[in-house]
Amino acid sequence: MIELKVLPNRSKHSPSQVLTDLQIHKSLGQGDVLVDGFGRNHTYLRISLIEQCNLRCKYCMPDDGIEWTPDENLLTDQEIIRLARLFVNQGVTKIRLTGGEPLLRPGIATIAEELGAMSKLKTLAITTNALLLKRNLHKLHSAGLNLINISLDSLQRKRFIEITRRDALDCVLEAIDSVLDYGFNPLKINCVVMRGINDDEIPDFVKLTIDRKIEVRFIEFMPFDGNQWNESQLVPYHEILDRIRQTYTLDKLSYGMSETAKLYKVRGASGHIGLITSMTDHFCSDCNRLRITADGHLKVCLFGRNEVNLRNALRDGAKDEDLLSLINDAVGAKHAKHAGMHLIANSKNRPMIAIGG
Ligand code: 5AD
Ligand code: SF4
Repeated sequence: MIELKVLPNRSKHSPSQVLTDLQIHKSLGQGDVLVDGFGRNHTYLRISLIEQCNLRCKYCMPDDGIEWTPDENLLTDQEIIRLARLFVNQGVTKIRLTGGEPLLRPGIATIAEELGAMSKLKTLAITTNALLLKRNLHKLHSAGLNLINISLDSLQRKRFIEITRRDALDCVLEAIDSVLDYGFNPLKINCVVMRGINDDEIPDFVKLTIDRKIEVRFIEFMPFDGNQWNESQLVPYHEILDRIRQTYTLDKLSYGMSETAKLYKVRGASGHIGLITSMTDHFCSDCNRLRITADGHLKVCLFGRNEVNLRNALRDGAKDEDLLSLINDAVGAKHAKHAGMHLIANSKNRPMIAIGG
C-alpha cells in the first residue's frame, strides 16, 4: 500500500498539506490529476509495449545493445489495460502504442482490442517500423486502431541497411502501400534527419507526399543514451525547410495546440509535411504527453530522468486512488521545458529503445 498523501504545489492545497484517503479521492477528480503546475492538461499517453526491436536503428539502439529488462519486470497485458483505463478515465483521449517494436508483443491484439473498446478514447495510434505491419493490419484496424506512424529514414536500400542494420526496405515500402490501400488517412512517416547520413534524401521523402495522402514528418535528431548524438549531425528544421524550398513551393498550414509538428504542404500535393523541432524550437509549453515504459515507469518528459514506478505500486496492491495520487505527484512535478539539447546530451536518461519512440 502506498503512502502518498501530499499533493504537489500546483494544487489548490498547500504543498505540505496532508490529506486523508477520502480527501484525495475527492480532490483528484476527473480533470485534475493530469493537469500540471503550468496548466498543461495531459490528454495523450504513449505506452511502450516492449523493449526489443527487430531493427537496430543507430539513433535509437546503442551499438552494444542494452540490457533487456527481465520479463517478470515488464507490465503484463492486464496491467497495461488497467493503467490505460485509469488514464482514459482521467481525460486521456489519445493513446499511442510504441516500443521497441510494438508489433513484436504477443498480446498486442488483446491490448488493442481492450483499448479500442474504451469509448472515451478518440485516437488509438501505433508507431512501428512496419516489418510486421501488413499481416497485422486487419486485426489492428478491427480493434479500433486509427492512426499509424511508420519509421523510415532512407528510401535507398544500402542506406536503409546501414541505418537499421537490416535489409528490409522492400518490406516497409510494401507495408506503406497496404496501409494506404486500407484507407488509413493520413499515414504518417517518421524520418529522423541526420546530416551526412540521409539529409540528401529530404526531397525524395517530400516527393512521397505529392500524390499520396502521406504526412512525412522530418524529425530533428535527438540525443539519447548510447546513440552517439552529435550536434553537427543535427539538421535544424529551418535548414530542412530551405532545402525543400529549393525544389518545391510550400504552403504553411495551421495546426492545433499540442500538435508537435509544424505543418506544411507542397502546393497542390495530396499529403503534408511535418517538422518535429524538439531541439531547435521546442514545443514544451504545449506539451500534452505522458509516457509509460515497458517496465511500467511513468515518464512525464521524454528528456527528463524523473520516473515513477507504477509497476511496483500495481503489484503492491495499489487501489485506483493510490495510483492516481502517484500519477498526480509525477505530473505536478513536471518541468516547464526540457533542459536544452546540450544539457540533455550530457545527462543520464534511458536509451530511446527503452523509453518508447
Ligand atoms: N531522434 C529523433 N527521433 C528518434 N526516434 C527514435 N530515436 C530518435 C532520435 N534519436 C523516433 C523516430 C522513430 C521512433 C520510433 O522514435 O521517429 O520513428
Ligand atoms: Fe526499432 Fe524504431 Fe528504434 Fe529503429 S527506431 S531500433 S525501428 S524502435
